[in-house]
Amino acid sequence: MQTSRPHGSDAVIAEISAGLLASNAHTSPKYLYDGLGSKLFEAICELPEYYPTRTEAGIFAAHGEDMARDIGTGTSLIDLGAGNCAKAASLFPLLRPAQYVPVDISRDFLIDSVTRLQQRFPQIDMTPLGLDFSSGFALPDSVRQRRRLFFYPGSSIGNFSPEQAKVFLRGLHANAGDDGGLLIGVDLVKDGAVLDAAYDDAIGVTAAFNLNMLRHVNHLIGADFDVRQWRHHAFFNAAQSRIEMHLEARDVLTVRWPGGERRFARGERIHTEDSYKYTRQSFVGLLEQAGFATNRVWTDAANWFAVIHARAIPN
Ligand code: AVI
Repeated sequence: MQTSRPHGSDAVIAEISAGLLASNAHTSPKYLYDGLGSKLFEAICELPEYYPTRTEAGIFAAHGEDMARDIGTGTSLIDLGAGNCAKAASLFPLLRPAQYVPVDISRDFLIDSVTRLQQRFPQIDMTPLGLDFSSGFALPDSVRQRRRLFFYPGSSIGNFSPEQAKVFLRGLHANAGDDGGLLIGVDLVKDGAVLDAAYDDAIGVTAAFNLNMLRHVNHLIGADFDVRQWRHHAFFNAAQSRIEMHLEARDVLTVRWPGGERRFARGERIHTEDSYKYTRQSFVGLLEQAGFATNRVWTDAANWFAVIHARAIPN
């Protein structure tokens, strides 16, 4: 394989190179999502093994009215990682927000989704924000006029470590105002075999999602990863209460990129993602440490997933 011209910024190149050169090679999970990676993630959500998406949707369908009673109407609904805005839009008839603030790193995609949504819900003031909210943000004044409800579905909070999650939730608390709140989806600890299958499905979509990261990294730093030399490896680490995703070298190999190279032994791994699973108690505890009090918790019959409404405790 040939190295090629890098397309990432200097900061991105420095971050990825440092991760690849670390003794335990790792990459940030954000690099799983280029155009193809986002489509593969959508396909994962359709898999029979990947229960979180449809379990959470079932909880919203069964308890949406109860949630709306608990939360109240007329909020500024701030949708973190909104994407196509579909999850929040399905709750509009119940939550009846006065303002909808979808936040996503992909601004162009967001504007397209919001333009279509505004035609269906002309009464809702829509204020899209194109930014990377994972590393902290401050809401503009136009979003500080009403009671704020942060909406963070999909158990994406699990892709932060508990320590990072606490910092992230504290950031939401700082932006919530005295009467603000949070509606969040959390994946719960369950049988290890169910978790293993959800992250290593039979037809290999999750494997393709993980391996595609190497193509993305080739594009960003000009590396010469050959995807066929790597295999997907995912398992539940019960001691850490997390799914770990890795890519494992099938043989001894060297990866090169402008300004760097790394030799991998056969079986050596690159750690690509963690997905933490919480108990109801452990997540309520995390919310408390971040300044939130839990109002209500809704789960499915098997207790696989929880949707939590928490309110910000004023400082
Ligand atoms: C986006 N996030 C909540 C997914 C998860 O379950 O941790 C990402 C994912 N990785 C592999 N499958 C899905």
